[in-house]
Amino acid sequence: MLSEQAVPVVRATLPAVGGALDEITERFYGRLFAAHPELLRDLFNRGNQASGEQRKALAGSIAAFAVALLDHPDSRPDAVLSRIAHKHASLGVTSEQYKTVHEHLFAAIVEVLGDAVTPEVAQAWDEVYWLMANALIAVEARLYQEAGVAEGQVWRAVEIAERREETADTVSFVLRPADGSPTAPFRPGQYVSVRVALPDGARQIRQYSLSAAPGHPQWRITVKRVDGDPAGEVSSWLHAHAAAGDTVEVSAPFGDLVLPEGESPLLLVSAGIGSTPMLSMLDHLVATGSTRPVVVAHADRSPPPTRTPRSCGASWPRCRRARCTSGTRSRASPVPGRAARTSRSSSFRRAPPPTCAGRCPSCARCAATSSAGAPPRPTSTTRCSAPICGSAPRADAASPGLPFDPQAPWRYRHGYWIVRSISTS
Ligand SMILES: Cc1cc2nc3c(=O)[nH]c(=O)nc-3n(C[C@H](O)[C@H](O)[C@H](O)COP(=O)(O)OP(=O)(O)OC[C@H]3O[C@@H](n4cnc5c(N)ncnc54)[C@H](O)[C@@H]3O)c2cc1C
Ligand code: HEM
Repeated sequence: MLSEQAVPVVRATLPAVGGALDEITERFYGRLFAAHPELLRDLFNRGNQASGEQRKALAGSIAAFAVALLDHPDSRPDAVLSRIAHKHASLGVTSEQYKTVHEHLFAAIVEVLGDAVTPEVAQAWDEVYWLMANALIAVEARLYQEAGVAEGQVWRAVEIAERREETADTVSFVLRPADGSPTAPFRPGQYVSVRVALPDGARQIRQYSLSAAPGHPQWRITVKRVDGDPAGEVSSWLHAHAAAGDTVEVSAPFGDLVLPEGESPLLLVSAGIGSTPMLSMLDHLVATGSTRPVVVAHADRSPPPTRTPRSCGASWPRCRRARCTSGTRSRASPVPGRAARTSRSSSFRRAPPPTCAGRCPSCARCAATSSAGAPPRPTSTTRCSAPICGSAPRADAASPGLPFDPQAPWRYRHGYWIVRSISTS
């Protein structure tokens, strides 16, 4: 909680800080990378830095945290902290690095806001920063401990046991520890970071979901090549160079988008290469003989299962209670730069109603689909929760044990756990 002295100061200066976020971000990264060029080369995604995408995430989330501290002093935005901490852990961020970020962030704030940063203002924002930083450091420490690694030591060498072309732009890599040790356990839906050495000597890191169930002696990731100008650095490198027998560096598994436990029905909503965590979840449900009712709603630019690894795609029909519905986008967005958003919503508009999928006993539309020859309905008494797209998420009174958090990657609604993984590519 913020101290009594800090509350009015943060409240009074929030508009100034919020209004200057772009400039603060610009100067912060300028200073940080001038002092530590290795952070841009080997830790931060330099494509994001160049394109401006995601640059504001760090400073922006501190401002958002300050708002949360003022509006809800007794609660913490745990879902946001958890998502950031998982990402940090997958990158091997250390507690010592928070001092470095603090130094350059606060120097940037002083540069931008000048005399407005009195000692009281600096003190109050210091409190905000360290409340958030310490919360993140604590979650990251727990994640490192659970992964059985020392702080930041997440990397291990894995050998590519097999490279499998799935489609023209998607390839799967089957991975096994290079030292012959067993693969680490993970929860279905989690991801690993992959670190590759690029031709200019930089070692860039990206995240890839584990696309098969846990418990196998090998892991699998499925990578879509990001074309364009410039082409995506790591995905293109993996497509062009990574071959069976090669060794790559991969982090321990992290990520909070995981299969909700229990027996509640599931609605897995994905788009594009965002299907990869869902494939792991489905594979796991099949492997464990689950009888949970599952509705899979997937949207893609081209008919599925184009980006579905063959072996895993085969598990969809094997999942006894799974019902799949998918939509495709038939033409490119006419608006340059807005392709992702347009494709995302139009995919669903063109798709059959995703949550109905012809299986809800109480829904007239489903009854019609069913009588038109769709597979028989399961005996579950779940109600139709359509439409999911375009409707504002809200809490469900029956949510089993978890507080409603609009930032969480899943929510419980109308008897379904709804898990979303929407990729823009
Ligand atoms: C949790 C998580 C799980 C993921 N799981 C998967 C998965 O299972 N499979 C998968 O394929 N992907 C997955 N991703 C996405 C993946 O991590 C990468 O973001 C993706 O592969 C692109 O990385 P890249 O290095 O190829 O592209 P980048 O080099 O990061 O480029 C990304 C974009 O930035 C643009 N860009 C780059 N440099 C510049 C510049 N100088 N100026 C302007 N624009 C520029 C590029 O044109 C491109 O459009 C996941 C991401 C996350 C966060
Ligand atoms: C209080 C301090 C910090 C906050 C609030 C913060 C916040 C964030 C946020 C919101 C993201 C985006 C998460 C996502 O993509 O889901 C992020 C990503 C990231 N953070 Fe932090 N962060 C902090 C400290 C640090 C530190 C100390 C480091 C290490 C030097 C670091 C390195 C990174 C990196 C490398 C990414 C990935 C971004 C990219 O490569 O584009 N962060 N952080």
